[in-house]
Amino acid sequence: MKSRKTILDVGAMKEQGEKITVLTAYDYPFAQLMDAAGIDIILVGDSVGSVFSGYDNTLPVTLEEMIYHTRAVVRGSQLALIVTDMPFMSYQVDARDARLNAGRLVKEGGAHAVKLEGGEHVAETIRTIVDIDIPVVGHIGLTPQSIHRMGGFRVQGRQEEQARKILADAKAVEEAGAFAMVLEGIPRDLARQVTESVSIPTIGIGAGAECDGQVLVIHDILGLCDKYSPKFVKCYADISGTISEGISNYIKEVKAGEFPTLDHSFK
Ligand code: KIV
Repeated sequence: MKSRKTILDVGAMKEQGEKITVLTAYDYPFAQLMDAAGIDIILVGDSVGSVFSGYDNTLPVTLEEMIYHTRAVVRGSQLALIVTDMPFMSYQVDARDARLNAGRLVKEGGAHAVKLEGGEHVAETIRTIVDIDIPVVGHIGLTPQSIHRMGGFRVQGRQEEQARKILADAKAVEEAGAFAMVLEGIPRDLARQVTESVSIPTIGIGAGAECDGQVLVIHDILGLCDKYSPKFVKCYADISGTISEGISNYIKEVKAGEFPTLDHSFK
């Protein structure tokens, strides 16, 4: 019988040159489907704020919401490693807060690891969480929780000084004890350099093909988003069309008295 992926399996995949697949999920049915399809890691991303709750960005998402969504995803999966995002202001204030909140995601949500954004300036926070035996994924480059500092969702690391900073961030995240890191919205050459310079796996999103793995938001790859789709997204299906058609047909049939038929009724 197959067992759930662990952080050790993920590390071994980098060593063996096997690409790591990651998708976001926020609920039971999507977790079931991607787990059965063989996804390596499910990320309960704070992108839930945008694609599920309809906010403009991830900043309003709360710890309670992340716990709620994590529980559903854990119940829906058997084989994937479950990583949950620490939402904005759940780790920025102090180490005690960071440990308590990471602990709640594991204890109450059932997450196997947590992810938090930032490089050198959050290295101590990563270390303090790793020290209580909660595995951490770093996230550098375009960090959506820093949207106001970045002045929007912009590719990071195009200028030499910024690129040097991202390389330093990667080193700091690795040295702090993270077992993997997300590289978001950086030029592909820089992502390759980061990937070659660290021993832990890099998971790219808008960071080119030379990362150790890739992550995308499930709503984006299924064409379930009504908003702008970034250049790095590939649509593998268009389920919005299928859903709209199903809903329209239901409305039409109820209005016309065609549903329910005797087949859908009790004697
Ligand atoms: O919140 C999220 O979904 C993420 C990924 C896009 C990396 O952080």
